[in-house]
Amino acid sequence: MKIGILGTGRMGSRIAAMYARAGHEVIIGSRDIQRARSLVADLELEMLTAGSYDQALDAPIVLPAIFMRDGLLAQLDKMRPALEGKTLIDITNPFNSNYSDFTTPWDVSSAEQIAATLPRTHVVGAFKNVWWNTFDRPDFNTTVSDVLVISDDQRAKQRVMELGSGTPFNYVDSGPLINARTVERMTLLAEQLDYSFFPRA
Ligand SMILES: NC(=O)c1ccc[n+]([C@@H]2O[C@H](COP(=O)([O-])OP(=O)(O)OC[C@H]3O[C@@H](n4cnc5c(N)ncnc54)[C@H](OP(=O)(O)O)[C@@H]3O)[C@@H](O)[C@H]2O)c1
Repeated sequence: MKIGILGTGRMGSRIAAMYARAGHEVIIGSRDIQRARSLVADLELEMLTAGSYDQALDAPIVLPAIFMRDGLLAQLDKMRPALEGKTLIDITNPFNSNYSDFTTPWDVSSAEQIAATLPRTHVVGAFKNVWWNTFDRPDFNTTVSDVLVISDDQRAKQRVMELGSGTPFNYVDSGPLINARTVERMTLLAEQLDYSFFPRA
């Protein structure tokens, strides 16, 4: 199943590599195609190619690895026709620029805002509870981190959970998209809890 990733930052680069290592065809898109090309050259993964955002949007499954505070909603609004009928894996936590709080009100999640912006796209929340550095060392205490997966579309949720087969995580059906309000805000708390296994979950 081909996956298009938008953005070459901490999460985009790692999730692209993870899916490519699991045997999926992955295209990682960047606003600057040269940045995507040099990342792909460094990673040397057979299943991973570089492209623009438009090229990555051709994939049936699209994962934007972009912050809400960097204008993700406006970018997705422009991409709405290209995303119709596709599955979008939403990994956003709507942090402000100093990570002290969220930019969304208490009674809405960024996942719900994305779903409202893309009413004809199957939005599945995942990886929200996984810190970027967990991808570099996913295993701990003889186990691996849970990935909480949320969606109102059961088939799309199942597809995303199956996509994780062969990746070093345990995928947990965590209910409907409204649960993103809790899953996203757990990330504001997780760092304060002083769990010895943090940032693993
Ligand atoms: N960091 C974490 O531990 C973590 C954990 C869970 C979820 N998340 C979520 O994952 C998403 C990405 O986080 P990240 O830590 O990977 O962010 P990041 O390192 O800052 O990367 C974000 C990428 O977004 C792209 N982008 C598109 N428009 C942009 C703009 N106007 N300004 C800046 N960058 C822009 C850039 O890629 P190009 O230049 O290649 O286009 C950039 O590399 C966020 O929604 C975040 O909430 C992060």
